[in-house]
Amino acid sequence: MAISFSRLNLSRLSLRFALPLALILALSAYVVVPLVDHLTVRWFVHDLDARSSLLANTLETQLQEYVPTNERRKISRLFDKAVKDERLYALAFCDANGKLLYKTTTYADALGCPKSPEKAGALNSLVRLPQGSLHFAVSPIDLEGERLGNLILVHDMSFIERRSVDTKRYVMALFVVLAIIISLVTVFIAHMSWRGWIKSVRTILSGDIFSPINPDAAPEIKPLVSDLRALLHEMNLERRERDNTSQLWTPEKLRGLLHDELAGDEILVVSNREPYIHNKGKNAIEVQRPASGLVTAVEPVMRACSGTWVAHGAGSADRETVDSKDHVQVPPSNPSYTLRRVWLTEAEENGYYYGFANEGLWPLCHIAHVRPVFRSSDWEQYVAVNQRFADAVVKEAHTDDPVVLVQDYHLALLPRMIYEQLPKATIITFWHIPWPNPESFGICPWREEILEGLLGSTILGFHTPFHCKNFIETVDRYLETRIEHEASTISYGGKLTQVEDYPISIAWPDPELVASQPSVAETRKAIRQELGLPDDHLLGLGLDRLDYTKGIIERFQAVERLLETHPSMIGRFTLLQIAAPSRSSLAEYQNFDAQVRAMVQRINDRFSSSSYVPIILKVEHHSTEEVNRHYRAADVCLVTSLHDGMNLVAKEFVAERDDERGVLLLSQFTGAARELHEALIVNPYHIDQTAAELYRALTMPAVEQRERMRSMRSLVKDFNVYRWAGRMLVDAARMRRRERIIAKIQSHSKKHFARRD
Ligand code: G6P
Repeated sequence: MAISFSRLNLSRLSLRFALPLALILALSAYVVVPLVDHLTVRWFVHDLDARSSLLANTLETQLQEYVPTNERRKISRLFDKAVKDERLYALAFCDANGKLLYKTTTYADALGCPKSPEKAGALNSLVRLPQGSLHFAVSPIDLEGERLGNLILVHDMSFIERRSVDTKRYVMALFVVLAIIISLVTVFIAHMSWRGWIKSVRTILSGDIFSPINPDAAPEIKPLVSDLRALLHEMNLERRERDNTSQLWTPEKLRGLLHDELAGDEILVVSNREPYIHNKGKNAIEVQRPASGLVTAVEPVMRACSGTWVAHGAGSADRETVDSKDHVQVPPSNPSYTLRRVWLTEAEENGYYYGFANEGLWPLCHIAHVRPVFRSSDWEQYVAVNQRFADAVVKEAHTDDPVVLVQDYHLALLPRMIYEQLPKATIITFWHIPWPNPESFGICPWREEILEGLLGSTILGFHTPFHCKNFIETVDRYLETRIEHEASTISYGGKLTQVEDYPISIAWPDPELVASQPSVAETRKAIRQELGLPDDHLLGLGLDRLDYTKGIIERFQAVERLLETHPSMIGRFTLLQIAAPSRSSLAEYQNFDAQVRAMVQRINDRFSSSSYVPIILKVEHHSTEEVNRHYRAADVCLVTSLHDGMNLVAKEFVAERDDERGVLLLSQFTGAARELHEALIVNPYHIDQTAAELYRALTMPAVEQRERMRSMRSLVKDFNVYRWAGRMLVDAARMRRRERIIAKIQSHSKKHFARRD
């Protein structure tokens, strides 16, 4: 739950008020009041001593006259008259031998004849009055130089106690009033000085960044002015840069940015899937590029930035191709960065990759109506393997503040694990798949741990603002954090994480390379010949991993509906579905494979002839070159995912069509649909609509195709993967500076307020 700023301010304010109040009250209760009490009692006792001696002097003459003749009645009258005084409680007279001769009725026999006031005081407890204690005075009475006896005067001291209680009350009340006034003044002064401080910062930030420092600025602000202004200046430049979409992002530009913004810091990428897989072929080791959107996007960035990529070594010949440090230089044809392989046992791979990541998190994050499965044993492997990857990253880092790019849902715990070992590292995590709403995510039994893990990141990226919003709401629901919605930051356990959308993309192909490929016309012809189709045959292309999120079944249904509703397309249109086998040891994927094959069989049985098949299914891996050839040969590319973070097939198709022809049919449930507005956007669940749009694509005039394709190409060219990485790195550099400045401001303001106090 978010703790708002106003609540924080309020509690800071209450503290400033309550603290002085409590201090002053404690001081008055434990020091001032007892002291005042003690002094008052002492004064009153002193008064009573003086009063007793005065009274004894007054009675002395009569006693000198009555005692020798034992005038008992006169003495008794004398004493009774004297004790009418409201404070004199009792009187007694003892002879020189300590025998009690005369006394008032109020004088207790038990008191006897004390020789001194102290001895009499010791008897106080014997005659304690309900209203309080007594004061004793012993005055010797002499006659002609001989001791006649001692006059004992007993005063009631209860009035002293009453007055002492009153005094205490007054003093306490006075201090309460004083404390309230002092607390209010403290709050006021602190508030005013904070406002003045903030005003100074505001003036600096809102002024011309090159103007001289305002002389009115608070002195403690002055050392920070240059830093604050530099930050502001950089932010302005960066904003301008972002707005300037005409500037093309290239590998060189990304390299330059790394050098300028991050002082050439080392870059480490970490993902489950490796960019190059070495497999044992029939006669030699073969290198395979995996079918992975993550690899498609991140690999060109690594080529540009160099550094080290840490990933699971999953190929059958991977161990044979690494050196003693488990390193292999890649790309094999032109090495430009290091691939560090991490080895997993079969049990680890089953629990962490197949189990928790692909049976749990994958269906959890994709709304494809497949139930996630969560097992404690899988979770244990997931935690252990994440730790293994974290240790590998820390080992590979040559400095204590590298930039680490953590990839995807396999490694959700990694950011915090790295942060704990390398607190100065800049950790940029990118979540390549959608992030669901809080209710959906809430079914994950380890939801808090996953969120805590991700909040070890400096920056956490998603494809769309909607996924960011879902993530922030999920954190808000399940963790106690501070969320700044406007700045899109989350503060958790002292770590600040920026949550941003960075729509991923592809490397815009080198125009020279594209020009060196066979022309589109040649490729069209060649591919059709390979497929046994006539030259003018209309070709649709589906290209995915064989995954239930890709909407392959729905795509086939749309083709079936097209042939039903537009029989003219029977014999004229074929869908080529290339499906790279994926996660095939999981039952869900095996069932899906069987379902796909059965549906192709059924539709083909329905519409095939001796020279025609409506759907050609190729469940096999294709090289990048082969994939590109197919993009160039197709009339329409069908991307009908039921849910997809981005989908780079859509962007790759557009990038390969330098002839500005071909139509993209794109599911509204992909991140790509938010950018490629000129595609024909469809709801893959709506089979009739998809079929109608497919027909529209197949019959779209060349001019319209060109218009749409041109617009999409310009967008993909500008918003390429170098911009994606560049934006994240610029933000990371800004966050590094910001953290430095915040640390400086905090230490300055601490010093400043300590001085004032
Ligand atoms: C998605 C994921 C990637 C993953 C790819 C291929 O694109 O976001 O992280 O690499 O699928 O899946 P695989 O399980 O073969 O790596």
